[in-house]
Order: sequence, then C-alpha cells, then structure tokens
Amino acid sequence: MSGTKEEDRKGSSEWREFFWNPRTHELLGRTATSWGLILLFYVIFYLFLAGMFALTMYIMLLTLDDFKPTWQDRLATPGMMIRPKGEMLEITYSVSDIETWGGFVQNLDTFLSLYNDSHQAQTNDNCPPDQYFIQEDSGEVRNNPKRSCQFNRTMLEDCSGRTDQFYGYKDGEPCVLIKMNRVINMLPGKDGQSPYVTCAAKGEDSDKIGPLAYFPPNGTFNLMYYPYYGKKSQVNYTQPLVAVKFLNATRNADINVECKINSNTLSDGSERDKFAGRVSFKLRINT
Ligand SMILES: *[C@@H]1O[C@H](CO)[C@@H](O)[C@H](O)[C@H]1NC(C)=O
Ligand SMILES: *[C@@H]1O[C@H](CO)[C@@H](O)[C@H](O)[C@H]1NC(C)=O
Ligand SMILES: *[C@@H]1O[C@H](CO)[C@@H](O)[C@H](O)[C@H]1NC(C)=O
Ligand SMILES: *[C@@H]1O[C@H](CO)[C@@H](O)[C@H](O)[C@H]1NC(C)=O
Ligand SMILES: *[C@@H]1O[C@H](CO)[C@@H](O)[C@H](O)[C@H]1NC(C)=O
Repeated sequence: MSGTKEEDRKGSSEWREFFWNPRTHELLGRTATSWGLILLFYVIFYLFLAGMFALTMYIMLLTLDDFKPTWQDRLATPGMMIRPKGEMLEITYSVSDIETWGGFVQNLDTFLSLYNDSHQAQTNDNCPPDQYFIQEDSGEVRNNPKRSCQFNRTMLEDCSGRTDQFYGYKDGEPCVLIKMNRVINMLPGKDGQSPYVTCAAKGEDSDKIGPLAYFPPNGTFNLMYYPYYGKKSQVNYTQPLVAVKFLNATRNADINVECKINSNTLSDGSERDKFAGRVSFKLRINT
C-alpha cells in the first residue's frame, strides 16, 4: 500500500516536472526558444498554405466570365417543374374544404405576381412571336443588359387567376403550371416550331384524367423566350409557362400525371435521367 503511494507521489512530481521544469526552464519538455521556433515554423507554414490557396483562387476567378458559365453540362434536355409545388409533387385537395386548396391558390398568386400584364409591360418587350430573340455580343463588346420578352399573365386565360381567381380549384377543375428549367443558350426548337407540353395519365389512370385544356393555346413555350442568356444579362427575364387545366378528372381517385416537352431539337429524356424533359405528379381531387 505505502509503496504504491510512494510511486504515486513520485509519478506526480515527475509529471509536474515535465510540465514545468524550473531547473532547465522547460515547458512540456521544451525550452522557450524551442517552442518559439515551432510556433514560427507553423505560422510560416500556414501563411504559405493560405497564400497558395489565395493565388489558386485568384487565377481561377480570372478565368471565369461573369456573364457566361465556364463549365456547363451539355444537358440535352432540361428538367421541368410544376406550380403549385409543396413538399412533394402532389396536388391533393377536397373541393368542399377551402383549407385544403387555399394554399395552392396563394402559391399561384405569389408565383404569378411578376407576370402581371402591367409589370410585364414595364419591364419587358413585346417581341415578334415564333422566332428566337437573338442578342449576341459582338466579339468582346457586351450587348448587356439584354431585353426579355413579355409573358403576360392573361395569356394563361382561365388559369391566369384573372377570370377565375381560384384557378379552378374551387370547382374541381384545377390548373397546374408547368415550367422548364432555364438553360443558358438552349434553343428548344427549329423551323419556327415552338416546343409544347403534353400531359397524360400513367398506365391505368388514363381513363380517370379526363379532358385537358392548355394555355397558351397548344401548350407552347414560344421560341421568342429563347435563348436565355443568364440572370446577369437578362435581369428581367420571366420564364414562359404552360398551364394545364384538368376539366373533368375523376374525383376521389389518385391520378398519376406525367407532363413532357415535345420539341424537334431536344431529345426525349433518356432512361438515365428520368427528370429530363418531363415532370410527374399525383393529382387527387376529393369531393
Ligand atoms: C400583380 O397583381 C396582383 C393582383 O392583381 C397584385 O396583388 C400584385 O401585387 C401584383 N404584382 C406586381 C408585381 O405588380
Ligand atoms: C401584355 O400586356 C400589356 C398591357 O396590357 C400589353 O400592352 C402588351 O401588348 C401585352 N403583351 C403581349 C405579348 O401580349
Ligand atoms: C428591367 O426592368 C426595369 C423596370 O423595372 C427597367 O427600367 C429596365 O430597363 C429593365 N431592364 C432590361 C434590361 O430590360
Ligand atoms: C395549335 O396547333 C394546331 C395544329 O397543330 C395549329 O393548326 C394551330 O395553329 C396551333 N395554334 C396556335 C395558337 O399555335
Ligand atoms: C365527366 O366525366 C364523367 C365520367 O367520369 C362523365 O360521366 C361526365 O359526363 C363528364 N362530364 C362532362 C361535363 O364532360
């Protein structure tokens, strides 16, 4: 017992001495000069690393262009999205319960706010339709800022929230907006043919989907909204929309809907990328 205590005391005094040795003036086994040198080494080392990092960043940034992405995947076909959009791609509500669809209406109101005719007239141009709105830079001279074309809310007719402020939700004939993700410099059609959206039910739901109406007519994304030159060049750009109105979808049933883009330049979304050129969502209208 006493032996162990003796060893304890010895051990702890050794430890204390290791921590601070008053004879040699060593802290944790090193003299102040030694510690100083180590500190100096690390300061220089890290300054060097930081310098390398900053230099690399600087060179990288020099090669970037503010207006054009340096690297861009040659994504053949852009993804698509719907509005209103909740947590999931699902539009389920009860016609009789405003609580279940009020949010959708609000979502659409907010989303379409920038498409107000008055706002579009203020910010964008009335462009000639069915042709690209080309605004190239001439060499190094930037043709910026670039103008964008008007997409008036009223072009969505029954789905504009103007003639029917509830976008059909109240009557069980809901509108769903389809948009295509922006891809810089994409040309989505040739020979003056605009790409258009078609929607269909998947598999056995096809007898439940009922007739559809598309706005603008034929569900087109007019060519005049392309090419898109990027957020910095085209500050007021509002992407074109297609509204789909479900005129007589079966009530109280899940309907799996898929909308896709039809274009004579964009390839069909491959199996590899299930989201290219299409969007799927579930529709359920309860009574
Ligand atoms: C668009 O119109 C709606 C209703 O008419 C209005 O509440 C909204 O503030 C307008 N938005 C803009 C950006 O003018
Ligand atoms: C959009 O609405 C504004 C204001 O009513 C109108 O002057 C303009 O011609 C419309 N543009 C298109 C492309 O319909
Ligand atoms: C963008 O819109 C503003 C008005 O909100 C307008 O003054 C400006 O000229 C527009 N810019 C371009 C490039 O269209
Ligand atoms: C819609 O498509 C039909 C047939 O393809 C065509 O005759 C009609 O002109 C198109 N309407 C519009 C507004 O583009
Ligand atoms: C709606 O569809 C039902 C069948 O699902 C049919 O009986 C009814 O006639 C249709 N209504 C209209 C207005 O087309």
